[in-house]
Amino acid sequence: MKSHWEEALRRGFCFHEKRAAQPSKSSLLPNFARYPSNHMNQLSLRINAIEESATLAMAAKAREYKAKGIDVINLALGEPDFKTPPHICEAAKKSIDEGKYFAYPPVAGYQDLREAIAAKYNKENNVPYKAEHIVVSNGAKQSIANVMFALINPGDEVIVFSPYWVSYDAIIRLAEGTPVMVNGHIDNDFKVTAAQLGKAITPKTRAIIFSSPCNPTGSVFSKNELQAIANVVQEHPGLLIIADEIYEHINFTGDQTSIASFPGMFERTITINGFAKGFAMTGWRVGYLAAPKWIADGAIKMQGQLTSANSSIAQRAALAAIAGDIAPTIRMVDEYRKRRELVHKLLKDVPGVKANYPMGAFYFFPDVSHFFGKTDGSRTIRDGDDLCMYLLEKAHVSLVPGGAFGDPNCLRLSYAASEKDLVEAMRRLKETLAGLKKADHAVVA
Ligand SMILES: Cc1ncc(COP(=O)(O)O)c(C=O)c1O
Repeated sequence: MKSHWEEALRRGFCFHEKRAAQPSKSSLLPNFARYPSNHMNQLSLRINAIEESATLAMAAKAREYKAKGIDVINLALGEPDFKTPPHICEAAKKSIDEGKYFAYPPVAGYQDLREAIAAKYNKENNVPYKAEHIVVSNGAKQSIANVMFALINPGDEVIVFSPYWVSYDAIIRLAEGTPVMVNGHIDNDFKVTAAQLGKAITPKTRAIIFSSPCNPTGSVFSKNELQAIANVVQEHPGLLIIADEIYEHINFTGDQTSIASFPGMFERTITINGFAKGFAMTGWRVGYLAAPKWIADGAIKMQGQLTSANSSIAQRAALAAIAGDIAPTIRMVDEYRKRRELVHKLLKDVPGVKANYPMGAFYFFPDVSHFFGKTDGSRTIRDGDDLCMYLLEKAHVSLVPGGAFGDPNCLRLSYAASEKDLVEAMRRLKETLAGLKKADHAVVA
């Protein structure tokens, strides 16, 4: 069977051109295929097949505006606005002062950190992981990449619950797998049902990936919903599930269930997690996977060739986070809960915007399709990408187009920002959106 790359070469075009014909992806992103081509500057088909991360691209645009002195409120990045708790920083400083952590750490991470992660899963998530099942990486993003590269053969299908976190799609394609998007609907809190999943599975399906709490929708699968998904998975020998639990602490339901805890699911589950969100440690770059040993060993092999271990100092900080005082995390989550209430109330007050009530993470993912085709008299909004750019230019609020997450009708709004900024951002959004009218009602400037 031909790989994606061979097929693309045969047809003489790159994936990006093919995808550009589809309306879903962001036109804000650079099209590498547009560069004049000769042998020297030709990037690989692998790289041309993926786009720059839309969240990072929007954040860069917002920074550009800020550099020009424009007062942009950035609600585009998925990043806690809190500082890393002091006891975690202290552990990192101490590790430097001790001078013991200068050498390459073991590829899978320090044994004490792997043991602490396993212990947390035994105690809090009811999953009997041991240190040998844990692989610490340079962020959860690398854990996901490790597992995809360790498991996927060319042409294998990976079912992605959509809306989905931006990088799943690109990482699967880089691993030469085929992402198969299964769409959750806003009226079901964007959650894919077990019945939908059952219909999407084919003999080529190797794995399923989702996040719960979900980035970008904030939805959280209940125990019963996860059990129904597990039941479907167990009907298919060899089918694996990649459960991304990186937002597990920022869950307002009080029910954080790990699908690996269900009978028969330990052997089929790769759990992804990390320190970025719950401990406000995005820049420290520590994530991990927990999986049956044969998969963990595959991930270690992959990581050993690409990056080696995660930074020794960041790992000492991560140990302090996971084995230490959880009170700072609880305080941050209380703050997120308050902000969710605030934004929910303010969003309900914006005519034309339809939003779900997120139960976790720190995002809203409102449907803004009402504004497509509307105009302010001089400019007509075509789609979500267009609206996002319009809101940045007119309201000076930076959001991310939903197409990057699989739903072009929506925009992602991060409420990991101060109350003051959130109130002002919502005021600007309401005012700017109110200026968009049906073409025949618009006052032509
Ligand atoms: C659902 C989800 N998974 C994984 C990641 C990657 O996390 P990390 O920063 O640890 O690489 C993110 C980051 O935004 C995320 O939202």
